Amino acid sequence: MVPGVEIVSRRLGGGTTVWAAHEYVDALVEAGIASPSVFINSHASSIIDDVTRSKITSVSVNLGGRAFRIAAKEYLPRGGGSFLKDLFRPSKARVELMLSARLASLGVLVPQPVAAVEVRLWRALKKSYLFAEEIVGGASMLELMDRQEHTSLSRRRKNTVIEAVAQAVARAHGAGLFHGDLNASHIVIKDFKDGDPKVYLVDFENSRIRKTVSKGERIRDIGRLERSASYFLPVKERLRFLRSYIQAAGQDMPLRDWVRDVSLEVARRAR
Ligand SMILES: Nc1ncnc2c1ncn2[C@@H]1O[C@H](COP(=O)(O)OP(=O)(O)OP(=O)(O)O)[C@@H](O)[C@H]1O
Ligand SMILES: [Mg+2]
Repeated sequence: MVPGVEIVSRRLGGGTTVWAAHEYVDALVEAGIASPSVFINSHASSIIDDVTRSKITSVSVNLGGRAFRIAAKEYLPRGGGSFLKDLFRPSKARVELMLSARLASLGVLVPQPVAAVEVRLWRALKKSYLFAEEIVGGASMLELMDRQEHTSLSRRRKNTVIEAVAQAVARAHGAGLFHGDLNASHIVIKDFKDGDPKVYLVDFENSRIRKTVSKGERIRDIGRLERSASYFLPVKERLRFLRSYIQAAGQDMPLRDWVRDVSLEVARRAR
């Protein structure tokens, strides 16, 4: 099992099963996680995000005498021809729980996984939910840029943040994570304005964990990120990002070749 985060499963009746970090499973059941939507609504404090496909709610709950702020993500059914496949494969919530538990054990900074819940009627997947540590005080790069927060930072501070993001991506790649959908909304930053910026990666729906992440995969992740940030960040900042990434990842391909390959990837995505 994953060191640090041991995940256990428990059937709760009514077609509901919970997978949870071993230390929290009893407290979660006691707090009513067997009815996930009631659990979420009765402990909800605010909506974190509901502009994208799934809805994320901030939930405040007491587990074993400790107060927790949890981000509860409710997945909509995959739709299309996925009904049959969903009879046999784990839900997106469970896949993401297991992946983030593995990533945490590999030293990648991710919201600490808490639980996943699947509701099935016979075998058919009706709903799934992911519960993870809420990054309180954090905001995604997309939100920060959208609110123009980066424009009020000093040049020095901006460099610090860009380098922290580059190091986080390099570390994740080094640990074997090919994110697959790395974009500005999947990078959550805490302590953006001052202090030591903490850079979390989120949303592992398209991710794979590999022994080594190939150069092509690194370029795909960075190209996707660069494309999502290119509306906001000038070339100079993007070059700083690449330079820090290459250094942190110990890559030997020269900067100008990275610039060329990432630009090609950005252009490919724009087509
Ligand atoms: N654990 C967390 N703590 C704080 N904020 C979070 C957390 N997880 C996600 N968020 C915020 O919610 C946003 C959306 O998260 P995420 O990408 O996981 O869901 P989604 O995009 O709705 O899912 P999908 O990719 O299925 O559309 C992120 O950009 C981030 O701002
Ligand atoms: Mg997303």
